[in-house]
Amino acid sequence: MTADALVIFGITGDLAHKMTFRSLYRLEAAGLLDCPVIGVAFDDWSHDHLVSSLREALRTTGEAVSAEVFERLARRLSYLQGDFTDPATYQALAGRLTGVGRPLFYLEIPPSLFAPVVEALAAANLTAHATVMLEKPFGHDLASARALNARLHRVLPEDRILRIDHFLGKQPVLDIQFLRFANALLEPVWNRDHVAAVQITMAEDFGVEDRGAFYDPVGALRDVVQNHLLQVLALIAMEAPVGPGSEALWDRRADVFRAMADVDPTRCVRGQYEGYLDVPGVRAGSVTETYVELGLEVDNWRWSGVPFAIRAGKALAARATEVRVVFRRPPRLAFLEQPEHPAPNELVLRIDPDPGLRLGMLSKEASGYSARPVHLGLSFAAELGKPPEPYERLLNDALPGDRSLFTRQDVVEETWRVIQPLVDHPPAPVPYERGSWGPAHDRGRTTWQSPWLSSPHDQG
Ligand code: BG6
Repeated sequence: MTADALVIFGITGDLAHKMTFRSLYRLEAAGLLDCPVIGVAFDDWSHDHLVSSLREALRTTGEAVSAEVFERLARRLSYLQGDFTDPATYQALAGRLTGVGRPLFYLEIPPSLFAPVVEALAAANLTAHATVMLEKPFGHDLASARALNARLHRVLPEDRILRIDHFLGKQPVLDIQFLRFANALLEPVWNRDHVAAVQITMAEDFGVEDRGAFYDPVGALRDVVQNHLLQVLALIAMEAPVGPGSEALWDRRADVFRAMADVDPTRCVRGQYEGYLDVPGVRAGSVTETYVELGLEVDNWRWSGVPFAIRAGKALAARATEVRVVFRRPPRLAFLEQPEHPAPNELVLRIDPDPGLRLGMLSKEASGYSARPVHLGLSFAAELGKPPEPYERLLNDALPGDRSLFTRQDVVEETWRVIQPLVDHPPAPVPYERGSWGPAHDRGRTTWQSPWLSSPHDQG
């Protein structure tokens, strides 16, 4: 059943400005929004202020705006000023929700307020048929994630809690399931008999910028590995779901994490870019990592013995998020005059920017008689069209309560369990230069391939 009101806590914040307003606008334009939208926040805003923020947000995100769609959305919006810790806020909200049966509460607020706000909604009798959608981070370690789940479950059943991981709304991430299971070419080689290694890179060419106060207590491991990159790994490694619906899908992802041992911190690398300590909001002498690298294994029949490596960092040489599946090396090419060991085939799924797929093959040189690497490339946008933005997709799924793209409690807890040793025993961060590929070290065991940076059809 679709929500009959959308209530956004934290509508005056940065995320709303960057993502939520544009997603609401696009849903409105597509005729997919059919309920009132109430923004709640502490700031002393009026309806007019909210509408002008909407206009400003659409302008800064570069959205082409139709006056008619804008007016429709503006009429749908209203604003409630209130302190999240004051029961009067929830009484006032209850007044606004008279006649509403199935509200969707979207909490884009500091995580320490998730449980108190949900409890206050329950105390005001607003949760009987409500769904709650939460931003990340979901806990800051295993114990806090469990504690938060326990508090939420006292008020709401699991099927009415939607935990956002915006990577799950990215088109190339969604495509992993299709590439793997709709192509008879790939599935037979997708295992330890043929795959030598899987490398997942998330490189960002910008630093922490104005997010120092948010980032410093968090660091790269919690910011993007525990959530986004482990979810990508699960999609790469999981078995095919055996039925439709979100539970079948989440069962298979959960299996992947259950087959993973806790990470060994002695095989992990942490780095911090030079200049990070000068970022406003960063504590003096902070040892927070802006780069992290870890080696993992999925110990099941499909993957045992195949190293899965993840690296993520800020202020690196380029922006590139990719999954690289490295196949086994062929034997020596004895038919060549100078026999050589060819490089292995590699399949690269690029998630950002310019999502695409590339298969590295070896071919004969035009002249001469030696092997040369060539690439088969695919740009998703060119072939398949422009997909919805992740937040647009997530919001659209949340309204009817479709949980496929929202993480499940057991999976969240398993991901924390896997990385908890690194949370507990972090190696000291190694400094690295801005614009490099991270710290020089000999701790990890991964020989990283350079990310795919060129356009899909270039041979570079
Ligand atoms: C967010 C992190 O979850 O993901 C940011 O907090 C990161 O630090 C961002 O930059 C990356 O997402 P995207 O979609 O811009 O690649």
